[in-house]
Amino acid sequence: MPYYSDELIEEVRSANDIVNVISDYVRLQKKGSTHFGLCPFHNEKTPSFSVSQNKQIYHCFGCGAGGNVITFLMQYENYTFPEALQALAQRAGITLPRQEMSSRAKQEADKRARILEVNKTAAKYFYAQLRMEQGQGGMQYLKRRGLESETLKNFGLGYSNKYSDDLYKYLRQQGYEDELLKDSGLVTIDEKRGGRDKFWNRVMFPIMDVNSRVIGFGGRVMGDGEPKYLNSPETMIFDKSRNLYGLNIARKSRKHFILLCEGYMDVIALHQAGFDNAVASLGTSFTEGHANLLKRYTKEVYCTFDSDGAGIKAALRAIPMLKEAGITARIVRMKPYKDPDEFIKAEGADAYQKRIEEAQNSFLFEVEVLEHEYDLNDPESKTAFFHAVARKILTFEEELERNNYIEAVAEKYQTGFENLRKLVAHQGTRAGLTRERKPLKSGISEKKKKEDGMKQSQKLMLTWLIEEPELFEQVSPYLGPEDFTEELYQKAAKLVFSQHQEGEISPAAIISMFVEEEQQREIAGLFHARLKEVTTPAEKEKALWETVIRLKENSINDRSRHLEPTDMEGLQKLIADKKELERLKKQSV
Ligand code: UTP
Ligand code: MN
Repeated sequence: MPYYSDELIEEVRSANDIVNVISDYVRLQKKGSTHFGLCPFHNEKTPSFSVSQNKQIYHCFGCGAGGNVITFLMQYENYTFPEALQALAQRAGITLPRQEMSSRAKQEADKRARILEVNKTAAKYFYAQLRMEQGQGGMQYLKRRGLESETLKNFGLGYSNKYSDDLYKYLRQQGYEDELLKDSGLVTIDEKRGGRDKFWNRVMFPIMDVNSRVIGFGGRVMGDGEPKYLNSPETMIFDKSRNLYGLNIARKSRKHFILLCEGYMDVIALHQAGFDNAVASLGTSFTEGHANLLKRYTKEVYCTFDSDGAGIKAALRAIPMLKEAGITARIVRMKPYKDPDEFIKAEGADAYQKRIEEAQNSFLFEVEVLEHEYDLNDPESKTAFFHAVARKILTFEEELERNNYIEAVAEKYQTGFENLRKLVAHQGTRAGLTRERKPLKSGISEKKKKEDGMKQSQKLMLTWLIEEPELFEQVSPYLGPEDFTEELYQKAAKLVFSQHQEGEISPAAIISMFVEEEQQREIAGLFHARLKEVTTPAEKEKALWETVIRLKENSINDRSRHLEPTDMEGLQKLIADKKELERLKKQSV
């Protein structure tokens, strides 16, 4: 662990009962030894979020979130590991020795905390300015754009007045030093002129992270002027590709999808109209980081970008990134209006809701954009268009899905289904010959399915061993940690086996031994596989041995693939294991 000893981490972790802590955030209901609730990390209507008191871990069967009590705070509060640990230590009344943090890490953590503080102070200052005499211009501007007082409050909107150093002076008065203010991005320090504000005479949009902490600002000129929006530069706490405007509110929306727009004003107008699930990127284009962030909260994103060329380009960029993250994308059309803000103003919320319902499938949107590059009245160009579409359809791995798209395209462009299907098949074989592509046949997915099945069996076994340690006695003569062939699973298995030998298995303690949130999530999933409903002891016995055999067989195959020709010992062990396996197979039939 980076800054604290394993013992200390374990002390803090075990002093915080996970059910107790999570109950502060999620309404939990007890069913047997497990507590269930609505997952705070994605939108759902039926609870698939489970917290196990025995294992002291949580796991969501819907989105795969999971971990121990420390992971939970990291995920929910967006804390770093040390921050989560500190919060939990405080909760349990444990004082963490300051010196355990490396001095550099401590300095950084302090600095981050202080920059957050500066931002918060500035946000309050701007907020107050907007409501004073000198803020009247700003207030009028926002009112003219149709924002209600409630909205101004919800988004914490403010105003930076006409003086170019008043914020600087104010922050200095509050005791913040130049160095810090410079690093906050709110002021520039000039050798001759001293400190100057970055923002003046602009309406101010505080940008918040998912936990509503102010991490930066956008400032808009009132009326025309360049640049229209000025944004805080990236700082230690402001990472534009990992935050989205409005997500702090949208993540709590009960809607099952997220509206992705281009502008701050679009987000605000949508929220005011009742669409509290709208977010926007922060003056930069959409990134993979954004897609991964959204993935935590939703499986469906509706892009509601500007209707101009730039908006179409932005959608074409975002679609593959969303898809890559496993998110379904749809496109909401804003024509004849420029953007959601103008649409709502002109047509109202009901009309917008209708546009949502009519949102276009992202693939068909891409095809439609493609269409404009061709002249469909010209036979040659039209043929080329269909070729291009066929190549695009090839990107779907599943035959059923390909056929569905072939059908949709054939209908839309009035060509025969069979014609288009043949073209796709033809393009597929050509593509297969000329360059490396995902194979059309289900070959790859068969292999993947097998791998997934094997992973699942390894998970199942670990969950079994944890839930019923008495099984060790039966299983351990045949199965050891080395039989878990997935690297991460093997690490976890080693810890499970050694903890068992020492007396007691603590899944939550094992999780803390992995630093990355992603790994913690995966380990929690390992210890919490969904066990099949087995009714009779005989059935259970059967399932157990089947799993043992499957794992052993897999591990033997894996080893014989990697065996060095000179490794006599390895070979002997392999032969012995094979014999053992054969015996086991006979026994269990
Ligand atoms: P838009 O001009 O579409 O934003 O730019 P908007 O929010 O709809 O603007 P108005 O107030 O209604 O006219 C989209 C986004 O691009 C960023 C901002 O994040 C803006 O919300 N942007 C735009 C900048 O960062 N700087 C600029 O100069 C313009
Ligand atoms: Mn706009």
